[in-house]
Amino acid sequence: MDMKSIMKLGIILVLLFGLQKCLYNDPRELNVEFVPEMVHSVPFDAFAENPNYSNGQTLQMPVEGTIARGFLPEYSDGELTEELAGKVLKNPVENSDKNIARGEWVYRNYCQVCHGMTGLGDGPVTKRGAPPPPSLLSENVKNMKDGQLYFIISNGKGNMASYRSQVQREDRWKVIKFIKTMGK
Ligand code: HEC
Repeated sequence: MDMKSIMKLGIILVLLFGLQKCLYNDPRELNVEFVPEMVHSVPFDAFAENPNYSNGQTLQMPVEGTIARGFLPEYSDGELTEELAGKVLKNPVENSDKNIARGEWVYRNYCQVCHGMTGLGDGPVTKRGAPPPPSLLSENVKNMKDGQLYFIISNGKGNMASYRSQVQREDRWKVIKFIKTMGK
């Protein structure tokens, strides 16, 4: 290789490095976007910085006192107890075959493991050491108001945990409709 070729190679290399420096000044950024069209959205991204708010964030906390849709408080005059629930909470669900069938589905999935399919408190887990629940066919349960049963399912009782997070509100009312048909 003669001197001239080495010089040419040198110049090309310097140009290439220079070009690269211009193009890639921020290694995290793509320098060429081919047909960007919809790549950049007009609204702020959820986690993007946002100069329009004093805390600089796009996602804001809900306003204090915000209630999620479908989660209106069921009782707002102080603390609800099992007894009070029986008086003030009314079952909003009508006594139809469809609702009872849904209630049965809920019962089979969430309650039967302990309470047993016939409600006698002899579900499969009671044969493996879990404390057997009282019968749901008892006079005691028969005399319970729907609101009281709803309170027990929502908050648990004694050895039974709360089923508030597993069984949604309407399903809790429907499973009560089903329990009322048990043993008939
Ligand atoms: C993990 C086992 C378990 C599951 C699952 C369970 N329960 Fe219970 N349940 C119990 C036990 C144990 C008791 C007795 C609580 C106590 O008084 O100590 C009880 C009590 C009750 C009572 C009150 C009975 C009474 O005579 O006081 C009702 C009503 C009831 N359960 C309904 C339900 C419904 C409806 C479901 C399904 C959404 C359910 N339970 C799921 C274990 C369970």
